[in-house]
Amino acid sequence: MSDKKKDDLDYETTGHSWDGIREYNKPLPKWWVWTFYACIVWGIGYVIAYPAWPLINGATPGMLGYSTRGEVATEIARVEDQNAAINAKLAATELTEIAADAELNTYANNAGAAVFKTWCAQCHGSGAAGAKGYPNLLDDDWLWGGSIEAIHQTVSHGIRNETSDDARYSEMPAFGRDELLEKEEIVQIVNFVQLLSGDTPKDAVAAEAGKVLFEDNCSSCHAEDGTGDRDQGAPNLTDAIWLFGGGYDDILETVTNARFGVMPSWNTRLDEAEIRAVAAYVHGLGGGEAAE
Ligand code: HEC
Ligand code: HEC
Repeated sequence: MSDKKKDDLDYETTGHSWDGIREYNKPLPKWWVWTFYACIVWGIGYVIAYPAWPLINGATPGMLGYSTRGEVATEIARVEDQNAAINAKLAATELTEIAADAELNTYANNAGAAVFKTWCAQCHGSGAAGAKGYPNLLDDDWLWGGSIEAIHQTVSHGIRNETSDDARYSEMPAFGRDELLEKEEIVQIVNFVQLLSGDTPKDAVAAEAGKVLFEDNCSSCHAEDGTGDRDQGAPNLTDAIWLFGGGYDDILETVTNARFGVMPSWNTRLDEAEIRAVAAYVHGLGGGEAAE
């Protein structure tokens, strides 16, 4: 190295020397030391003011009484206050009149979308397209009815649950399990249902034989032409829309063991304005029907 190293003697030392080895005195920079002290002071202040030390059940509360949970509660209360008037109006307006009031309609749809994401999406899907056993709410194929009143009724009381006496209720018999029909008859009916829905039956001859059996055993709920009955939540079997699957094996399973789709009632969990909002939202998704 051409640059000569700074001579050792130019450095301040502590005066300590061991066998000629001297200890340099290189104090920390002032700015660093003061920042360090400031951090300690700030840390003590924070521990006194805010929740800090973990305890077995929670943490030291801090003198300011602050908590993020409390902050959320305050924020919720503030929004509820802000929406109190329009919620009261929503709860008092005729269901069929909501759409006519632009402000109310916009509010109901936005609030309804939020309710849907929180309470309904886990079964009906975040986009409301449903899944096997959970109906698609975007189309105009309704089990129990697609007017806003019908949707409101379904959501308020639910379907086949044990919590609401007003829940929608019906029960398809398990024709195979309860031995109401012979195995061969069931096969014939399943083939006929395939035909009804516009599918090519697995066995055309069996399908023909299934027609009479369908009239005798199924038409009381699904109607003679197979288009279903909303009073009983019996699906239309003539369209290609299936709740429990339209393959041969799916239909065989439905007719053999029946299905029993359950939806909870919501009027114990949501208030009237929330139910109306989500009913308006679902009604507005695309399949909504005019008032009955
Ligand atoms: C635990 C699952 C579950 C949750 C959560 C749920 N649903 Fe349902 N929902 C169902 C099932 C299952 C059915 C179909 C029942 C049947 O077979 O008739 C249904 C049916 C419906 C129907 C009737 C559709 C038709 O064709 O007539 C509507 C409307 C509906 N749900 C709306 C909602 C709304 C709004 C929410 C949220 C507040 C919600 N559901 C939450 C399971 C659920
Ligand atoms: C007492 C009324 C009743 C009778 C009788 C009845 N069903 Fe049903 N059926 C229903 C109901 C209600 C559902 C919907 C069940 C649910 O949502 O959980 C249903 C569902 C179905 C489905 C499923 C449709 C889909 O979209 O996945 C098929 C298929 C079906 N029934 C066929 C039949 C056949 C075939 C018969 C006669 C052998 C029959 N049903 C007799 C009430 C009935």
